[in-house]
Amino acid sequence: MARPVPATPKILILNGPNLNMLGVREPSVYGRDTLADVEKLCRKTAKNLGLAVDFRQSNHEGELVTWIQEARAKMAGIVINAGAYTHTSVALLDALTLAELPVIEVHLSNIYKREPFRHKSYISPVARAVLCGFGAHGYALALEGLARMVKKS
Ligand code: DQA
Repeated sequence: MARPVPATPKILILNGPNLNMLGVREPSVYGRDTLADVEKLCRKTAKNLGLAVDFRQSNHEGELVTWIQEARAKMAGIVINAGAYTHTSVALLDALTLAELPVIEVHLSNIYKREPFRHKSYISPVARAVLCGFGAHGYALALEGLARMVKKS
């Protein structure tokens, strides 16, 4: 008898405020890739890894919280670049904690090379791994790492 085909694990990729402006926003810091380019890279990488992705961006903290809550039951993991909310949001930390999913924190820039207020992350305590300074490639690296974690569990 044929075995049931396992569902493809789905990863939520979340982007916080101002990341919709990638490409035009401080290219010397964030590079020339647009968010659409980042999404394309994520989709290609995920396909090669046998993962599906739900790629989203919001400028609103509450919307990000709601999406994380919804991920709890539906997703196998979360990749998050919370933008400036990284440095301010207890609400995102709480949502990521209650999601009980493997979380990878990503930043395009090396936040530790920048202003001191960017050195504090509210997300890191709940993240299984943190990637910063790789530009858009950091998202692909995050998916590779997450794929290993998801396959092991
Ligand atoms: C960022 C770094 C944050 O400090 C900043 O507020 C962002 C982008 C990054 O990807 O490098 O919006 O998360």
